[in-house]
Amino acid sequence: MSGKPAVRTDDFAGPVLDWYRQFGRKDLPWQLDKTPYRVWVSEIMLQQTQVATVIPYYQRFLEKFSDIRSLADASTDAVLQLWQGLGYYARARNLQRAAQIIRDDYQAQFPRELEQVMNLPGIGRSTAGAILTFASAQSWPILDGNVKRVLARCFRVAGWYGQGKTMKALWDIAERLTPRQHTGQYNQAMMDIGATLCLKTSPTCEACPLCHCCESYQYGTQASYPEKKPKKTKPVKQTLMLLHKYQDRLLLWRRPATGIWGGLWSLPEVACRDDIDDWQRQHLSMTSPCSSISENLLKHQFTHFRLDISLAVIELDQLPAKVSDNEDMAFVAIEQLPEYGLPTPVRRILETQ
Ligand code: ADE
Repeated sequence: MSGKPAVRTDDFAGPVLDWYRQFGRKDLPWQLDKTPYRVWVSEIMLQQTQVATVIPYYQRFLEKFSDIRSLADASTDAVLQLWQGLGYYARARNLQRAAQIIRDDYQAQFPRELEQVMNLPGIGRSTAGAILTFASAQSWPILDGNVKRVLARCFRVAGWYGQGKTMKALWDIAERLTPRQHTGQYNQAMMDIGATLCLKTSPTCEACPLCHCCESYQYGTQASYPEKKPKKTKPVKQTLMLLHKYQDRLLLWRRPATGIWGGLWSLPEVACRDDIDDWQRQHLSMTSPCSSISENLLKHQFTHFRLDISLAVIELDQLPAKVSDNEDMAFVAIEQLPEYGLPTPVRRILETQ
């Protein structure tokens, strides 16, 4: 693309709004009974996660935490438990921290200024714009993953999203094309066009309200935009998880609040089998041999690395005394596991044991 998009704002937004009236999603749970809180929770869950996956999580979350105050006052464990399986747990921790800020600094009323909203943890410019257009009828552009793809294709925007100049070009286009009226409908339509028509592979351009002005449709360059960042191979990390069993109970360990799976319950980890005895001495004041080791039982993909998980099973013939005075460790009965927020791969491992 060179310079400004050639299409006039009305020729772009008009067909998008017409399309929304006919095909746009209007009855998602967060579109009914709209409040800033309900919309905010949905937008955070929808970052990185598809609508169909989010819906049951959203409903359970709203049943338990029906307003900002109940979320702010909850224990982090209770919040993470309802988030388990959705992934990207920093979203849940930020959501609760933001609820506490709103409780303490804004009398539990969701702020109405874009700047204030963007200053809350976990809310960037696009999410702030989405919340304020959907819930408060304001007019702000958005640029979530789906909208970025639609605009990058439509105007053949060069570069990849990690590049400042690419993001500036996309925001400039979004600002210019977003209508002042019906912004919520327009923003929802742009997200829906990205999610249902302008797919990453095999987009259905003939059904798209933008094909009259889409440069990639015109030149057949849909597969070339957005440009991909040249790939680096992901580093592989290894870990050895320890499954201490005593009768029908097993030992869980709460991970530190920051870092991967922050604050979730998991299994203790060591780097290699030679470290098992030291770990037991330090944390349980005893040692016990392991009965089996399964090498590379599960490979879990994170955004920036792959984690290969091995598992050592250790059968205990008595409960270690030291565990009882450590609140980040617990011998948990198998039937109580659903009450603990566990990372999905760890839950899978436990289900197979
Ligand atoms: N992704 C992020 N926000 C969304 C929304 N409101 N509807 C559909 N997909 C979304």
